[in-house]
Amino acid sequence: MRSLVATLLALGCLQPLQVAATCLANGTEPAALKNLVNPSGEAYPVGLFVGNWPGGLATSSLAGILIQEMLGYNVSYNGPGGSTTHGMYAISGCRNPTATTAEERGCDAKVTYNHITMEMWEAYPSLWADLQKNKAMAPKALTSMGYDGKTSTYLLKSVQESVAESEGLPLEFYTSYNANWWKPWLYFDNTSSVNATRFLKKCSETQIFSDSLMRNYLAQTGDSAGVQIIDGAVVGSCPDEYFWRAPSCRNETFKCVIFFTGGAGWSVHLIMQQATAWNMPIAMAIANTWGDFAAMPVAHRSLFYWWEPDPTFLELAPVEVIFPPHDRVGHANGDLKTAPSTIRLTKGVSKDLLSLAPRVENFLVNMEISMAMINAIMLDQKNTGDSWDDVTCRWLQGNKATWESWLPDDTTCFAGFGLVDIESGELAMDRTVREGKRCQACPSGTFSERLVDSIGVTYICSACPLGTSQASGASLKCEPCDKGTYQDELGSQSCKRCPLGTYQDQEGQAQCIACPDGSSTLGLGSVAFTDCGCVEGRIDVAPAGLTCEVCSVGLTCPAMGTLESYETGVHPLGTKYLPIVDAGYYTTAAEPLKVYKCGKTWHCPGGVPDSCAGGRAGVPCAECPQGKTWSEGQCMECEAWRQILWVGD
Ligand SMILES: *[C@@H]1O[C@H](CO)[C@@H](O)[C@H](O)[C@H]1NC(C)=O
Ligand SMILES: *[C@@H]1O[C@H](CO)[C@@H](O)[C@H](O)[C@H]1NC(C)=O
Ligand SMILES: *[C@@H]1O[C@H](CO)[C@@H](O)[C@H](O)[C@H]1NC(C)=O
Ligand SMILES: *[C@@H]1O[C@H](CO)[C@@H](O)[C@H](O)[C@H]1NC(C)=O
Ligand SMILES: *[C@@H]1O[C@H](CO)[C@@H](O)[C@H](O)[C@H]1NC(C)=O
Repeated sequence: MRSLVATLLALGCLQPLQVAATCLANGTEPAALKNLVNPSGEAYPVGLFVGNWPGGLATSSLAGILIQEMLGYNVSYNGPGGSTTHGMYAISGCRNPTATTAEERGCDAKVTYNHITMEMWEAYPSLWADLQKNKAMAPKALTSMGYDGKTSTYLLKSVQESVAESEGLPLEFYTSYNANWWKPWLYFDNTSSVNATRFLKKCSETQIFSDSLMRNYLAQTGDSAGVQIIDGAVVGSCPDEYFWRAPSCRNETFKCVIFFTGGAGWSVHLIMQQATAWNMPIAMAIANTWGDFAAMPVAHRSLFYWWEPDPTFLELAPVEVIFPPHDRVGHANGDLKTAPSTIRLTKGVSKDLLSLAPRVENFLVNMEISMAMINAIMLDQKNTGDSWDDVTCRWLQGNKATWESWLPDDTTCFAGFGLVDIESGELAMDRTVREGKRCQACPSGTFSERLVDSIGVTYICSACPLGTSQASGASLKCEPCDKGTYQDELGSQSCKRCPLGTYQDQEGQAQCIACPDGSSTLGLGSVAFTDCGCVEGRIDVAPAGLTCEVCSVGLTCPAMGTLESYETGVHPLGTKYLPIVDAGYYTTAAEPLKVYKCGKTWHCPGGVPDSCAGGRAGVPCAECPQGKTWSEGQCMECEAWRQILWVGD
């Protein structure tokens, strides 16, 4: 047969089958898909870590097809993971999320190749809190899947319907099982109809023999006949080894309605408390294998434990038995007679998905599936045996209106991004006209500003205000200019340095402050008033503050000179900034700014005030002190002078 087809093909008698490359009309072709590109320039597909249970498989496939074909991203389906916890590790960047030891798991990676995990059961608060500790890789839980996960007690729809019809008794309510008022056993099979040795686990092999669970059962109910003590341990009492019977049918076993659960006794302690509290005649049975568990509710009219979403019993359309609403405080304290809590199911994403592909995250936020939808998809898969991709593709083809509303609006931008006009490339400040606009990372010199309008929340790229700048793109704010700098224009990538003669001692300013008259700064970017000093030819005479007076002839005043430095001969910036008296001039210490011209230049060496050559005194170095006389460039004792003169003769 195969060779015949091959032959016909080779002969050109048959056209090869046209395989559609995409599921959806107008879906992006595989060759045109884009990858994520991280800040280091590394490119890789959107990593979808697939949970290996029906809801995880179905919703991963749904999301994956849409992300690929409608958002245009290359998707890699990773895993499969066995559980939600594997998915949590995966989106935190762990290299081997399904490994059992922390070492093998390798959660110290800096880049994550898994970005999404669907139907994440929010039932692992301590693991989640642990993963949040690594801030750089902390995963996020987005919105609800649209349905919650739950475990409950169910019965087959056929039983519920026939009893409602014939007796008017609503078996979907727990009160209908109260043995004081009704005879529910009339509508169910009895325990002797079950081949217990073949299909059931012995109580001793199950949670019914858990000391801690049974101690709690006893404490909550006081039902001492429902338990026994074996070697000091409190364990459930199963007289025939296979069934634990509730008080209301314990003495008359034919009145017991069978309750099937599986595993090692999923929720047995909860069902036992409910049965005793609400007077329900129940015989608890734990199926031997998964196959036995799946078969028992079909083979026997019974109550059974189940969870949603899950396809195991879907075609039987099980009906949930409604108990009093969940009492959180009660459950926390071991009182389990009310309904168990529902479990929130969300989409888990990596921390960096928002920056790598905001539209993908936006899409996931919008995605909302009802329990009826997911059940329809799972039932289709069960009935046809087709792949999850085929089944979800069929569903997408038939429910366009539903998923179209999940696709992100092109003009709904995230923080770091802003609206831009596609045609002109110019930033757009609103979306009163949505056509032709999309989001892009904000350029440097702008910041991404939240905008709330009639459509909802988006972001625009606003120019940096005066006195600020932003060198990086995709920023959420502009940085105020440092001291010594300013910015007098909008939308700047950097601040300007204060020019000569000005300073700025505050951050975030649009201007610099001018130094007082007659003063200036030594350089650009001055940060304080004290950077101002007198210009050359002037001297600062104010002890505090700055008052620049013109220096008289005979006084050389470099820039930054002060009266104090002139008087002391010490300047904090160095000697080149010291005002000095010129040679041939003289000032007094009392009035250092009053300059005298000396008769003989060599009498007045200049320098600091009151400097005279050779010990001369007076103004301006006019004479030698009394008893001295000028000789050889200095004032000499008259006696000595005479001697010298005499000797000199
Ligand atoms: C595909 O795209 C074209 C052009 O954009 C549009 O006219 C057509 O309605 C689209 N088809 C579907 C099934 O969305
Ligand atoms: C998509 O990713 C796969 C790896 O998962 C890669 O082999 C393929 O080339 C990528 N496609 C595109 C269009 O980049
Ligand atoms: C119950 O199953 C066992 C096999 O596990 C079989 O030997 C036995 O005959 C069955 N009993 C009844 C009553 O069918
Ligand atoms: C069950 O029978 C025992 C004695 O056989 C009796 O003490 C007990 O009260 C009975 N319990 C109920 C709920 O009828
Ligand atoms: C249990 O149910 C079977 C039918 O499945 C019936 O023949 C039998 O009499 C019942 N036993 C009791 C004690 O009611």
